[in-house]
Amino acid sequence: MAVATPIQIRFERFNGELGIAPATPPRHPSEADKPALLARAKQLLKDRDAVLVAHYYVHPDLQDLAQSTGGTVSDSLEMARFGHEHPAKTIVVAGVRFMGETAKILNPEKTVLMPDLAAECSLDLATPAEPFSRFCDEHPDRVVVVYANTSAAVKARADWMVTSSIAEKIVGYLHRQGRKILWAPDKHLGAYVQKVTGADMLMWNAACVVHDEFKAQQLEELKALHPQAKVLVHPESPEGVIRLADAVGSTTGIIQAAERFAAQGFREFVVATDGGIIHQMRKRLPGATFIEAPTAGKGATCQSCAHCPWMAMNGLYNLIDTLEGAKGHEVLVDPAIGRRAKVPIERMLEFAKKVLPTFTGGEA
Ligand code: 13P
Ligand code: SF4
Repeated sequence: MAVATPIQIRFERFNGELGIAPATPPRHPSEADKPALLARAKQLLKDRDAVLVAHYYVHPDLQDLAQSTGGTVSDSLEMARFGHEHPAKTIVVAGVRFMGETAKILNPEKTVLMPDLAAECSLDLATPAEPFSRFCDEHPDRVVVVYANTSAAVKARADWMVTSSIAEKIVGYLHRQGRKILWAPDKHLGAYVQKVTGADMLMWNAACVVHDEFKAQQLEELKALHPQAKVLVHPESPEGVIRLADAVGSTTGIIQAAERFAAQGFREFVVATDGGIIHQMRKRLPGATFIEAPTAGKGATCQSCAHCPWMAMNGLYNLIDTLEGAKGHEVLVDPAIGRRAKVPIERMLEFAKKVLPTFTGGEA
């Protein structure tokens, strides 16, 4: 079998230097092979007492498999909550490594597996634990708030962990208590939260290689061509893109916003986040038109236009290998780091229970 060649993804490190990390596309089955593979995966999930927790950005086959087997497809907040509350002995995370680590930190007694442990995130890569810890030491007067897209070691240094669906609320709450914030890693999400809450936030430097590529000028031109379309933007996007949004939200927030606009009669949406989410949007709003927000295009600046190269590493074949017990798929977190990192994550989950009355970020 041919081995896929990794794509080399460039990202900016916290100190402005260039980083390069590989992303290897998985082998994808033919349409003819899919039914047998899906049946095998379903059987293995059952045999292993495993639940599949998938992010909206992974391949539609895995999203549908999660939904049809009692798992979930959701945003990072709901992925963490769902895995934590589900009784299965094994959690299989189809997403990127920080999502698997979060599941393991919350459930140290469970087996947590991932189709590919090398599924990174540029925000996590741009935030090494040691310099981050020094940055925190230099600002002891600030409460440390980190985004979920970070390593276990970085979370272990934090007071709070947030995801994009609750960042505004937690930072707003801390701001009202008169606290100053040290924020990491996403600079665009940080700038957005700062603008909305008015909090005093000291920022780390990092960006998402996918959302950073959305372009305001091209989006404006697209809006002119589709004047009826509602523009839905993930807050990891640059400020100029956020400014053109009709709704800004986490992945779940984007889906919910589309549903709200659809109830008012809107049928056309421009989506500024990973295009994988459109699979769920089409299922919920059949007949609506979804347009991916413009990037500068391959060969210009973007490397994996509107598709996270690391989320794309999850496939049916490597999921089956994982469930069959192949080595190298288990997420392990140093127990001492895990115990420390659990504190800011549980703090967020407790807060979410109180302030997000519906708190059903995903679709079972
Ligand atoms: P959500 O929590 O909104 O799903 O975001 C996760 C992520 O990695 C977006 O790029
Ligand atoms: Fe990280 Fe961006 Fe991929 Fe989300 S889309 S996992 S933030 S690189």
